[in-house]
Amino acid sequence: MIPVAKPWLGEREEQLVLEVLRSGILSLGSRLPEFEDAFAQRIGAPHASAVSSGTAGLHLALRAVGVDEGDEVVTSPFSFVASANAVLFERARPVFADIDPVTLNLDPDAARAAVTDRTTALLPVHIFGYPADTPAFESFGLPIVEDACEALGAVHADGTAVGSRGHPAAFAFYPNKQMTTGEGGMVVMGDPAMKERIDSERNQGRAPNMDWLDHDRLGFNYRLTEISCALGLAQLERLDELLAARARVAGWYREALAELDELTLPCADRGTERRGWFVFVVQLPREHDRDATIERLRELGVQSKPYLPAIHLMSFYRERFGHREGEFPVCEDVAARSIALPFFGQIEQGQVEQVASALRSVLRG
Ligand SMILES: Cc1ncc(COP(=O)(O)O)c(C=O)c1O
Repeated sequence: MIPVAKPWLGEREEQLVLEVLRSGILSLGSRLPEFEDAFAQRIGAPHASAVSSGTAGLHLALRAVGVDEGDEVVTSPFSFVASANAVLFERARPVFADIDPVTLNLDPDAARAAVTDRTTALLPVHIFGYPADTPAFESFGLPIVEDACEALGAVHADGTAVGSRGHPAAFAFYPNKQMTTGEGGMVVMGDPAMKERIDSERNQGRAPNMDWLDHDRLGFNYRLTEISCALGLAQLERLDELLAARARVAGWYREALAELDELTLPCADRGTERRGWFVFVVQLPREHDRDATIERLRELGVQSKPYLPAIHLMSFYRERFGHREGEFPVCEDVAARSIALPFFGQIEQGQVEQVASALRSVLRG
């Protein structure tokens, strides 16, 4: 079976992780600031705080921009559920707006129409690694938290790396991501006071200069272990290679799927925008039975996943907020037809061709 995702680990990862294990310092050691500094430098952001997951990063970033109980945060319904859940952690409300049919990112016009006097922040998601229209959101004059969990390596049209524009942006390092720390995340930001707050809140609310077990604010245990930081440092050293391999695989898919014109492929980069390749998601033709397609692909040795379901139509969100079909037609149409194909740096060209020929036989019989 060709898996849908797979991490790419090497000897350097083993070496750095072993060093940590032998040091006996497994949390809050020197690897943490090393990883943060190296990541901030890579993105071109002044500061970075490592956390235990992308979700934890989003949560602390939302708190850091002042999101509070009863507030509204305008965000995309076409995302992994964590982006909306993080808003709920603060008893604020995720207010969804529809997406752009080409980039699949939050549509700035729809987002503007969803802003009310209770809106305290915007939470655009760089979905599937394609840069959201952050400059358009900046023109709203509201605080922004960027969900960059899928977007390591993405670049805006003006050449700024996703995550380098000063707003807090959360990245994620689950094993299917461009780079992994097992579980883990990173918030990058411009404001040093925000870093201090996030560093404290990830560690139960302890300020850096405070005594052991003294805490001056509410906090969480969102720390990232030294083992994970070591893994992250090793992955970061060869991030260019990891990203280039994914871009190459995307090119192979484009070629192999070119004749299947009934499929909608991920959009090409517009102008100087650059996708940070995370997944290869195709939209099936409207009349097609997606579940049957996934099952037939499985029989042919190809794993695939429905990706992504619309958040507002998940049972929890329906029950809690009364969401129904028809609210966000573009999102719902895309969400109903999308499948993620096997996509990882070490997949071979022959395997990509195998996926394409399996898909051809499923679609065309
Ligand atoms: C768009 C998006 N947001 C948030 C997350 C949450 O990251 P994590 O799984 O590290 O908590 C993910 C990761 O899967 C994601 O894809």
